[in-house]
Formats: sequence, structure tokens, C-alpha cells
Amino acid sequence: MFFTRLARSSRVAQWSPVRFASTSTTATPNKITASFLAKSAVLCSVAGVSIAAIVPDDIIDPLLPAGADAFDLIENGMHAPHQDWDHRAWNKTFDHQSIRRGYQVYREVCAACHSMSLISWRNLVGVSHTEAEVKEMAAEYEYEDGPNDQGEMFKRPGKLSDRFPVAYPNEEAARAANGGAYPPDLSCIVKARHGEEDYIFALLLGYTEPPPGISIRDGLHFNRYFPGGAISMARALYDEVVDYEDGTPNNASQLAKDVTTFLTWASYPEHDERKKMGMKSIAIMGILFGLSIWYKRFKWSPIKTRQIVYKAPKVRDV
Ligand code: HEC
Repeated sequence: MFFTRLARSSRVAQWSPVRFASTSTTATPNKITASFLAKSAVLCSVAGVSIAAIVPDDIIDPLLPAGADAFDLIENGMHAPHQDWDHRAWNKTFDHQSIRRGYQVYREVCAACHSMSLISWRNLVGVSHTEAEVKEMAAEYEYEDGPNDQGEMFKRPGKLSDRFPVAYPNEEAARAANGGAYPPDLSCIVKARHGEEDYIFALLLGYTEPPPGISIRDGLHFNRYFPGGAISMARALYDEVVDYEDGTPNNASQLAKDVTTFLTWASYPEHDERKKMGMKSIAIMGILFGLSIWYKRFKWSPIKTRQIVYKAPKVRDV
């Protein structure tokens, strides 16, 4: 009895390649349908989300009921048109000359009301100015420091490690000087607004007369890109309010473009490094991916190309 069992089991072991080959193709039709449906659901959702991300809102907006759209304009401001920013291209860095001019616009116009308290002088070094230039610019401002040996606070010229000087000593002073409205800190303003640099650019130039039927309170200004339409900030950029040292035309839209580029850099100071790192990673990963395909084919080729042949055991008469 024992010997017969042993003989049977050894025969099974001998036949196993054949059993293996046949079981691999025995998925039932139900299983095949279920797996097909699951795969299509995953593929459709991925494709749906990707397509939704690239279809611009302008195509969808006309399909919305008119009332919803009109309400949206008052509530959220007009949709800022998309501008062709150099730095938006996948392989482009910031336009650093524009950052330099934008800093000048910020310093000469916006800094009267807006602080940029997260930016230090040293951040400009190598980005828009040389170290010597930044040292000189910082030294034009007085900073309180101390205490000294006598325990007194003293004033000293600014250094590279100081933050940009603030426009107002505190929020209350800022509000008092601006009719109750607080000019927000511009260090991260591009990140903080829907539409990012497109919005800031459109806002700076979006001042018009209010449309008929809309009255604006004294001290407020109509700007169609500002949510609600009435903004406390008066139009700040006009043609030729800043004189550029490099001779770039100083019309209002050029000033707005440059200051917006500067503010975008302030919000995304890592932008250029990030893109360079991304390109390096994609190049290296591309090479590794190619190598891994080669390695996989190299390792699997004997297994994939082997032929499994069934040799019938010799049947002996017992
Ligand atoms: C005279 C003071 C003053 C000057 C100069 C000024 N602003 Fe303003 N800014 C304000 C005030 C006040 C607000 C707040 C407006 C409000 O909330 O109604 C504001 C708001 C803003 C906002 C935020 C808008 C929003 O969506 O909340 C941005 C961005 C801005 N200013 C950019 C600038 C830039 C860039 C410049 C320089 C070109 C500049 N401002 C010059 C006073 C000023």
C-alpha cells in the first residue's frame, strides 16, 4: 500500500509541468469580465482626471447657467487672462533681468505700503544683484540692534542677513494709513492668490471706471479682477513712474510684468533649482529605466524562451 502511494505521488510530481501549464489558462469568463471592468474603471478615472486638468475653464464657462456665471464675477472677480510667462515653460528658468527690474518697481512704488517681511537682503545675491550691490542697498536702511555694552539699543546700517525693512511698524498703523484696509505682506502673495502671477498682473492693470449702475464707496477703487470689485488700493502703476537703468521701456504693463515676476520669484525662490533638479532626475531615471528593461530581458530570456515538452513515461506492464 505504502509503495503504491509513493509511486503515485512521484508520478504526480513528474507530471507537474503539464498541470502547471494547463492551470494557468483556466480563468473563468466571470473573472475575465471582472478584471476587464476593474481595469477600464481605473483607466477611465485616470484619463478623466488628466483631461479635466488640461481643459481650460473658458470652455466650460459658457455651458454654465448665465446666472451662476454673473454671480461668480461679482463674488470672485473676473477670471485673470493667462499670460505667456517665460518661466512657465517646462525648460525655462525665471527671467532674472526682469526680477531685477521688478525689485526696483517694488522698492520705488509698492514698498511704501507693502512689506515683504520673509525676504532677506541676502536672498537677492546671485539672483538679481551682486553681493556688493546688495550690501550697498541694505546699508541705506537703518536697523535697530543691541543691546550694546551699556545695555542700550542702537541703530546700525542694514546687513545682508537683515530682512527687508517693513513699511509700517504694525498692522494698526498700516490700516490707519490706508482707510482701514491692510496692505498684505507680498512675500508669498503669488502663492496665496487664485490665478497666481496672472491674477497679480491683471489686478495691477485692471482699474477702470465702474460699470453703469455700480457705485463705489469713497476711498475704494473699481477693479474687475478683485473679488467684490472694490479695492482699497489705488492704481499704483502708470507709464514711466519708474526709470529703468537698462533702458527697458517703462510703460505700465512692462512695470506690472516685472514686479509680478519679482513677486513670483519671492513666492517660489526654489523654482529654478527645482526645474534643473527635475531635468537631471528625469534624465537619470530614463537611463536607469532603459537599463532595468535590458536587465529584465537578460534575466528572463532563458525562462521565456524555454520549451516545455511532455514526454510520456514508459508504460510498463505490471
Ligand atoms: C498707497 C499704498 C499702496 C501701494 C503704493 C500699493 N498697494 Fe497694494 N494694496 C494696498 C492696500 C491698502 C491693499 C488692500 C486692498 C483691500 O484689501 O481692499 C493692497 C492690496 C494689494 C494686493 C492684494 C490684493 C488681493 O487680492 O487681496 C496686492 C497683490 C497688491 N496690493 C500689490 C501691490 C503691488 C505689486 C504694488 C506696487 C506696484 C502695490 N500693491 C502698491 C495699498 C497699496
